[in-house]
Amino acid sequence: MRKLFGMVAMAAVSAALAAGGAAAQDIKGPIPFPMPKPVATTKPILVPYDKLFYFASLPHYQEPAWVHTLVEQGKLPPVEQRLPKKPLVVDTKFTSDGPGQYGGVLRHVIGGRPQGWNWAAGLNQGYGGTEHTTMMCLVRTGPLWMVTPDKIEPLPQLATSWEWSQDGHQLTMHLIEGAKWSDGQPFTSEDVMFLWDDNISDPKVVPGWVRPGAFGEGVKLEALDDYTIRWTFKEAFPIANLYQMALQNMCPAPAHVLKKLHPKYNKDATYDSYINALKPENVPVVTLGPWVPTLYKADQIMVFRRNPYFFEVDDQGNQLPYLDEVQFKLSTWEDRTIQTVAGTADYTNMEDPSLYLESLKKAADPKFPNALYWGPRALSWRLDFNLSTVCGVDNDKVKALRDLFRTFEFRRAVSQGIDREALAQSLVRGPFIAPFPGGLHIETDFFKPESVVYYPYDVPSSKALLKKIGFSETSGDGYLKWSSGPLKGQDVEMTLTFTSAYTTDPAIADTLIGMMRDIGIKLIPQPARENEADYIRDTCKWDVILYRGDRSFTVPIQQLQDLAPLSPHRPLWHQGTADKLQELLPFEPKLIDILNKVRVERDTAKRGELLREYDHIFTENIYNVGLFVVPAALIINKRFRDVPAGAPVLAYQWSEDNVIRERMWIRPEDQGQAPELLPGVLPFVTAK
Ligand code: GLA
Repeated sequence: MRKLFGMVAMAAVSAALAAGGAAAQDIKGPIPFPMPKPVATTKPILVPYDKLFYFASLPHYQEPAWVHTLVEQGKLPPVEQRLPKKPLVVDTKFTSDGPGQYGGVLRHVIGGRPQGWNWAAGLNQGYGGTEHTTMMCLVRTGPLWMVTPDKIEPLPQLATSWEWSQDGHQLTMHLIEGAKWSDGQPFTSEDVMFLWDDNISDPKVVPGWVRPGAFGEGVKLEALDDYTIRWTFKEAFPIANLYQMALQNMCPAPAHVLKKLHPKYNKDATYDSYINALKPENVPVVTLGPWVPTLYKADQIMVFRRNPYFFEVDDQGNQLPYLDEVQFKLSTWEDRTIQTVAGTADYTNMEDPSLYLESLKKAADPKFPNALYWGPRALSWRLDFNLSTVCGVDNDKVKALRDLFRTFEFRRAVSQGIDREALAQSLVRGPFIAPFPGGLHIETDFFKPESVVYYPYDVPSSKALLKKIGFSETSGDGYLKWSSGPLKGQDVEMTLTFTSAYTTDPAIADTLIGMMRDIGIKLIPQPARENEADYIRDTCKWDVILYRGDRSFTVPIQQLQDLAPLSPHRPLWHQGTADKLQELLPFEPKLIDILNKVRVERDTAKRGELLREYDHIFTENIYNVGLFVVPAALIINKRFRDVPAGAPVLAYQWSEDNVIRERMWIRPEDQGQAPELLPGVLPFVTAK
């Protein structure tokens, strides 16, 4: 059982509370949340659920001519032997340009750097679409944004179909039969069980993407045969679990490569050696994805080449993908947009508000090389306070700070000390950005402004709140001081960790440091490169983190685990450890209870009601501090065909999954605009 946060732990803060005493009328708010006007977005063409993807065996299959030559030379089995019995068919009847032609390159730029290829153990590959290329999962949710509303449920990927038992406690899933990894080895339920038993369920494999608790207490997964797995749940019909089997959660890695490196099967291995066994330079990579990492040059580029065993075809029997090569230049996120706008890269999620106006100016030029699609305000920034008393707490001083963060009046003082309008306008002028109360994204189906408790900018209120909890300014430099506890006499100061991988974050950090100074709080800037920020976060050795929220709060059903302490490592701002669960704040059990209800609620309207209740409690307690929301634009070079208009930068997944890259193609006459770096190379065939 988790312990509720007790008064003993609060001693220092509550003693201070008693000593304070501001008049209640000094503290203003909350006020109604001001809903901004929606931004104009591109209307999508919708496709019925069953028509987008299905599994079928087709009368004949094709492959690119150069790959066929390798087959004729005996270097590779024929295409029909490389494909599963029933490949996943991507129906091109609903695309704007129909079946594609082979060849050509997609040039991505990313700001992240790959941690390694062992995604089963939670390592990332540098983001920016790399992970959507290496990891194939039981189900796929990215393209759901284009599905007609009559049937919405996760799309099949490695699981071709599934059925619930009558009582709803068991879910049986059928895996794709005869699919092969990029090295030609079969994919079976053993790969799924290795992921579940020896990674997700092994608490020593940290950080990990997901934990069993995310699927409800007492969940069990077993393999019935090579191509059938069965889940058993305590609750009946936990349909949210199906959404949680998508990226990055239930995405098997090759057991035939990794098992022998895992300490359970190899007495010479350690957890560290296992997690980091597949270093970025270990290419080509064994994957089920459309393109295989084939060349890695640190801080320069990664080149992914077509996977000769990829399990998807178009409705004409052409093995996908159409594009032979995908490049990921290793640069910065800002550079991704700059290069795409300039035409030296092909694809960006324009998400750095400071680049919007300049990019829009360039887009007005008729010679602009790209198509540009605006989506809703799905990107948000927020401040997380570290609420953990068990993770990363190694002395009294850290403990005192954590207790402060767990004090509502403090979080409220910070929130009311932030001028969100000014912060937003300092990043980009105009109607793009709007204030964000925290919690669920404001431009989602279930959001209602009435459920939000919004604490307005009000410096006198912040000061009164800080006085109320016992802080006062004594040395004349404007900073408040602790009046009791292990930090007695010291400034009220804390580190502010932020990523320097985007231009936006350091700019926000700068403004926040100034705004906090005005209410007497000292924020010590701690810039971190993207991967470093992830590591710092996972060790819990941070005070406050500036964070760009992602899909958890846009599509909560697929990331319930991120929204409250449903498992030891989530939410990011309140983590436990493998041995010690979180000490819950008084309102957290209620959040957990609501999310557990969401998990089993089959009625969409009722799910919406529950989520609004969640949002109310979240914002009322300022679980974290929302800053602003902003729309993003997807920018793609015009030479690509079958880019689905209106693909959002962020919905169920990031755009790289939403656009279905494996069915994008380039006319042969346009392919020369960006040359392949590894022409003729086929991973594991010509490049071992
Ligand atoms: C990073 C980028 C996003 C998106 C994701 C994909 O977070 O900032 O735009 O590309 O990676 O995971």
